[in-house]
Amino acid sequence: AKAKKVTWDVEYIMWAPDCQQRVMIGINGTFPGPTITARAGELVSVTVNNKLHTEGLVIHWHGMRQVGTPWADGTASISQCAINPGESFTYEFVADKPGTFFYHGHFGMQRAAGLYGSLIVEATAEQDEPFRKDYDGGELNMLLSDWYHDNVFAQAAGLERKDKHFQWIGEPQTILINGRGQYECMLGKVNNYHRGIYKYAKTCVRDKEAKLCRDEERCERRSECGPYCPESQCAPVIFDVEPGKTYRLRIASTTTLSALNLQVEGHELTVVEADGNPVEPFTVTDIDIYSGESYSVLLTTNQIPTYYKPGAFWISVGVRGRHPKTLSATAVLRYTNSKLQWPTSAPPETPAFDDIERSKRFTYRIKALKNAVTPPPKRAMLNRTIVMLNTQTLVRGHVKWAINNVSLTLPATPYLGAYFYGLQGSAFDATGEPPNGFPDEYNIRLPPVNSSYNATLSDRVYELPYGALVDVVLQNADMLKETVSETHPWHLHGHDFWVMGYGEGRYDAKKDLPNLNTDNPPLRNTVVVFPHGWTVLRFVADNTGAWAFHCHIEPHLHMGMGAVFIEGVDKMHDLNVPKEAMMCGVIRTAAAVHLTPA
Ligand code: C2O
Ligand code: CU
Repeated sequence: AKAKKVTWDVEYIMWAPDCQQRVMIGINGTFPGPTITARAGELVSVTVNNKLHTEGLVIHWHGMRQVGTPWADGTASISQCAINPGESFTYEFVADKPGTFFYHGHFGMQRAAGLYGSLIVEATAEQDEPFRKDYDGGELNMLLSDWYHDNVFAQAAGLERKDKHFQWIGEPQTILINGRGQYECMLGKVNNYHRGIYKYAKTCVRDKEAKLCRDEERCERRSECGPYCPESQCAPVIFDVEPGKTYRLRIASTTTLSALNLQVEGHELTVVEADGNPVEPFTVTDIDIYSGESYSVLLTTNQIPTYYKPGAFWISVGVRGRHPKTLSATAVLRYTNSKLQWPTSAPPETPAFDDIERSKRFTYRIKALKNAVTPPPKRAMLNRTIVMLNTQTLVRGHVKWAINNVSLTLPATPYLGAYFYGLQGSAFDATGEPPNGFPDEYNIRLPPVNSSYNATLSDRVYELPYGALVDVVLQNADMLKETVSETHPWHLHGHDFWVMGYGEGRYDAKKDLPNLNTDNPPLRNTVVVFPHGWTVLRFVADNTGAWAFHCHIEPHLHMGMGAVFIEGVDKMHDLNVPKEAMMCGVIRTAAAVHLTPA
């Protein structure tokens, strides 16, 4: 079989993603990490050399199902031990289907430190994409993220402080497009909406200001806005396109926190792919994208350049769902026949951040393509339903996120290794599962203090019967603050799931189950639960392994907002688990027993 082989050195680098120099995690000396492009069905082999000196690391391949290779999923404490400083590990997995994906660190808060990059799987003759014939231009790729000037150690320490000292990470300083942004600067004309929080930015016109731009240092260190040399690490991204063609724009979000909205001035977007799955195409002026999600949209370069519309257009990416203290990010879509290098207009404004109904309308429009595979009928199979109440809560003075009042803590021994070696009992609390639901009397419209049971920390897991049809009901509720509930994007490892439906208030199986969408539920690996609402997802538990299921907001996961699903308990020993990836915790202790002095 064909294989895509790469070797990565992961190390701390000095970088200026938003024109301010900071320490961040880079791969082979750059940020974001190199894009991996593979063909569907191809074997991907990535040798990771950990050159972080004082920290372990793992890399997760977000959206890859890892069928038969759960040990390559890259989740510390779940699928493997963190790779020690100075050591190497080789991930090998099949790029199982075409689509838009990304990879990222999955240990501590290393994603927020910049450990991520794009993973693109191209269609093949055997595994084609239904919309492949609908674009004749090329492909453009956008990996979106948000960036904080505080380092992740400070962020994590702040989140772990007790009682009144708890420090939330707050809003990011800058939104990045392909790892580039401009701190406190917005390109283009000033308009009222952003008055007061941004300075007029000069864009660097390649020729006229070339002298200034050649001085890289000076460009990056300038405190005022711009100009940005094209070679600088924070120069705006420019997509050069030919007029009169249709392009595929791949968009993925690996934000630490922010929900984003993307629009391209003067152009409509036709959504065709979500998380590597074709969707029934629909056309919009802008898309919402949550952390962990990816889309492909088709865009036709159908504008005729005039003096006022020169043929260069803003791509603007702004914050949704939270009070935006962060400026929108901008990139440029530039036609080859453009009369000017830069747009002359103001970048399009992001829709009102608190218009949740607008977000729901977009999300609810996503449906599977006609004739896509639908879930098997419930009565034909083994069933399991887990209702998961999402709450923010206090555990011994620490602010945590919890599922059914249990906040996830991860053990020293990876679950996959524990099951592989039959060491469940000593590796984690294997005396039972976390709760399967929450009490009837719980009021989702009140902070969790209304609950009669206390929140706890636990490393228990859900053991799913192999082959069962699993329904997960995500139930949102008030946070610690009354009337406040947030949107959470939940991501499942090892699977795509069908999104069966959404609703307001408390999920009621009697009333809501019969109304779920069994006709054309979209397949995804990430789905949101809206404030005070519910979302139902469904999948078949037929992938042997230990799979994380968690909120993709990194500080929320860090505060316990996740669960672990175990599938195929008695099939684990058939796996080809690389033993060196499991040598930590009780497995290391057990292995050491067999060592004798020479
Ligand atoms: Cu992209 Cu478990 O995450
Ligand atoms: Cu969350």
